[in-house]
Amino acid sequence: MIHQNSELPYEFREHDSKANVVWNRTSVTQAMREQLNGHAGKCMWFTGFSGAGKSSLANALEVELNRRGYHTMLLDGDNIRHGLCRDLGMSEADRAENIRRVGGVARLFAEAGIIVITAFISPFRADRDATRELFAAGDFIEVHVDTPLDVCERRDPKGLYQKAREGKIKDFTGINSPYEVPKAAEVTVNTDELGQQEIISRLLKEL
Ligand code: ADX
Repeated sequence: MIHQNSELPYEFREHDSKANVVWNRTSVTQAMREQLNGHAGKCMWFTGFSGAGKSSLANALEVELNRRGYHTMLLDGDNIRHGLCRDLGMSEADRAENIRRVGGVARLFAEAGIIVITAFISPFRADRDATRELFAAGDFIEVHVDTPLDVCERRDPKGLYQKAREGKIKDFTGINSPYEVPKAAEVTVNTDELGQQEIISRLLKEL
């Protein structure tokens, strides 16, 4: 039977590499790690404008999961850009590379049987969809934090929208760089209309 690469479990897929490397099969599987942890490894991927509320929601969700005894990890755009992705800027190519790396890291955490929560603008659909492909069906939950741009701009928690309007930041998402709205996000939330607790309850049902 011929399978699509993406339909196969990750360890059985063909993996591209520029180097002469084989795929080493390991003895402890994701299922074994998940059994030890008492729950499945998954990724909840928050996407939306800067100031939409991704980081706050991701943080509140992790607090709630931690309180309930789940093994979690939170990857946040601003923080990752101080380390793993410190060499990347905000061009389309650099954002693609940012999301490619973060997607790979998220995949590894899921393989470790951890619920990984990510908060990145991730404005390009192709980058988000490529990340989704790394996960088994149902293990990648895309959450569109659909707070309208004018609300994000009014909040402007880091003063970046004002700088972008003054022409001091180029390629600023929503101002002079595009945001491609997800076509089939598992969840869409507007932090301007719903309270945080309501949203967190909704998200917990997806896990
Ligand atoms: S992404 O587009 O590559 O997913 P990421 O989420 O890592 O972006 O980083 C976004 C954060 O970088 C924003 O929350 C904001 O604080 C900061 N930032 C700096 N420059 C820009 C820019 N040009 N566009 C958007 N955000 C920017």
